[in-house]
Amino acid sequence: MSLAAGPKTQNQLEILLNAEMVTQRVRELAAQISADYRGRPLRLVGILKGAWMFLADLIRHMDLEDVSVDFLGVASYGRSTKSSGEARITKDLDQSIEGLDVLIVEDILDTGETFNYLQEILTARQPKSLKAVVLLDKPSRRTRPAQADYVGFTIPDAFVVGYGLDYAENYRQLPDVRVLRPPNPEGAKG
Ligand code: IMP
Repeated sequence: MSLAAGPKTQNQLEILLNAEMVTQRVRELAAQISADYRGRPLRLVGILKGAWMFLADLIRHMDLEDVSVDFLGVASYGRSTKSSGEARITKDLDQSIEGLDVLIVEDILDTGETFNYLQEILTARQPKSLKAVVLLDKPSRRTRPAQADYVGFTIPDAFVVGYGLDYAENYRQLPDVRVLRPPNPEGAKG
């Protein structure tokens, strides 16, 4: 079945990280973040759309009294598995982050373009501190230096879907992180 004919079924995609591994690691990250921010109000900034499932799981395992959530919509890939190197805001934050301890919650760090863009626009809003947690990191694909403060898994150069991550808006609902191999990776458009 080609991608043009519609999304593949879950069983046609190889599992990279199963749901249990993801859950376990998200709990560990939540514990580490809770320890680091103990006694301080924390604002989570979830990056839409890919990070919503990760953020939902992360926050429910955190042990912090004062934690709030906002979302920033950023578009980067469209219907391609290659980064366009361009990021743009599709939905701005609802509230100011000035003077707050802010933790960006991102699905995946790939070329680093989006990450740098986020650092730039959020630093300009003068938070007290700005850190980032990413579920997945693909360090081999960097075009710009980028290092998250908390990383769930370092993964090889593969296009992954599931657990909130999509290809052309498909596969976000899958509980595992799976590898998508398009028949024509350069030209998977339209
Ligand atoms: P970057 O700007 O190249 O670092 O790309 C970051 C964004 O691209 C992520 O927040 C994802 O939305 C998307 N992205 C990068 N790699 C993948 C992938 O393997 N699967 C799905 N989305 C990805």
